[in-house]
Amino acid sequence: MAHPLFTRKPLSLLMEEMKGENRLRRVLGPVALSSLGIGAIIGTGIFVLTGIAAHDKAGPSLMLSLATSGVTCIFAALCYAEFASMVPIAGSAYTYAYATLGELFAWIIGWDLILEYAVASGTVAHGWSHYFQNLLGMANIHLPKAIALAPFDYDPVAGQLVATGSIVDLPAVIIALVVTAVLVKGIKESANFNAGMVIVKLFIVLFVIVVGAFYVDPANWEPFAPFGLGGLSLFGHTIAGQTGNGGEPLGMLAGAAMIFFAYIGFDSVSTHSEEAKNPSRDVPIGIIASLLISTVLYIAVAAVLTGMVPYDQIDIDAPVSAAFASVGLPWAQLLVAIGALTGITSVLLVMMLSQPRVFLAMARDGLVPPSFFGAIHERFRTPWKSTILVGFFVAATGGFIPLRVLAELVNIGTLLAFVLVCVAVLIMRKTHPNARRPFRVPFSPLVPIMGILMCLVLMFSLPVENWLRLGVWLTIGLLIYFVYGRRHSVMAKRRQAGIVDEDPLAGPNG
Ligand code: ALA
Repeated sequence: MAHPLFTRKPLSLLMEEMKGENRLRRVLGPVALSSLGIGAIIGTGIFVLTGIAAHDKAGPSLMLSLATSGVTCIFAALCYAEFASMVPIAGSAYTYAYATLGELFAWIIGWDLILEYAVASGTVAHGWSHYFQNLLGMANIHLPKAIALAPFDYDPVAGQLVATGSIVDLPAVIIALVVTAVLVKGIKESANFNAGMVIVKLFIVLFVIVVGAFYVDPANWEPFAPFGLGGLSLFGHTIAGQTGNGGEPLGMLAGAAMIFFAYIGFDSVSTHSEEAKNPSRDVPIGIIASLLISTVLYIAVAAVLTGMVPYDQIDIDAPVSAAFASVGLPWAQLLVAIGALTGITSVLLVMMLSQPRVFLAMARDGLVPPSFFGAIHERFRTPWKSTILVGFFVAATGGFIPLRVLAELVNIGTLLAFVLVCVAVLIMRKTHPNARRPFRVPFSPLVPIMGILMCLVLMFSLPVENWLRLGVWLTIGLLIYFVYGRRHSVMAKRRQAGIVDEDPLAGPNG
């Protein structure tokens, strides 16, 4: 019998839990699923972080940075799709890990997902604030400095964190609280509503590419990689590329590690497995198609942006709309700012909706207190307590911690989750060779191994302090697990009661 830390949650139990909820109708085909993916992907990354990444780290080679992180995500997404297809219910990486790798792994991934959803939401709220203030600026309204920014930020010239003279990024706080109120009351995550947002987003992105192309000056693409094509460091020692004033790696790869944020969210497609008409075929299609489409669009946006404005003059707050202002198209600036705000809002809704759902799954398993994280509002039928907690957390992180610090932390956490998912695929292929796999990663073990290696390269291309922050985050998580989760785990109690569960994933021959 496996060690209790590696207890797996049986599939039968997962299915049983699903029965309590309203069974969702199988209505989503590959197009609807891809559009859901795009809804969760295109947001602050492309509309805001492209500015910082091009300006400080990659220059025009941001195009290659986007291709690199896009390909990394595709490797991870293929693994994700196999992992998800083995546990054919709505869920998150947390649920899949519990059924395949056991409780400790599940906890680590669940704890890590807080970085991917809740901390990412703080980052996205910041991006929203940038475009909101950009829009106000067009009407000649300027917020007082005290409420316009987080109180400190990283200054790449000084190479350290410096005070900004502000107290709080108030618009970021307000949008986080407004979205929380909407989510507590309950928006049915309707495919139609999402499709509307996606159409606006895609329209704006295509507008940027097509109209912006007329204003590209190819001379701006020279030098193509002002900081070089490297950007790899090993715990603070640059081993390829240039080093910034704060010791951080610079170059195309460093840009890729920063802009990776733009791809986060594709895994939300798998949370709709239960509504998919043909989940084992359409969910992988939805994941891969939304990623491929985003990758192509992103590279084109980066080409246009760096072609319109010399990289060292790119605005780092609202780069895409500012680029149109700089070529004398104020109406286009307005259009882009409104489109960016719409797109960023939809990402925020999806991210802040996902986090309480992950907590709900963890609460059902007894790993976090069910009385709080499992509480469903009587009238609204939403996990209201944890939605409010997440809302305050997002408001606080968005209000007080600067965008790039948050984005880098989210990236290292999400990259770690992807490494674990790729490793999981390799382990499961060894331990459960005959399990049912409606979707199989092609060219295994090459693809999972490439996924692991590329994620690790991007992790090492982030400034070194992120490893420390990740270490602290995981240590706190493990402490909580050993003090609370392990003792209250529903599976642990089943074991103590002598209930022996069959191996949930054993195929015909084991
Ligand atoms: N990929 C999402 C965004 O860029 C998180 O906003």
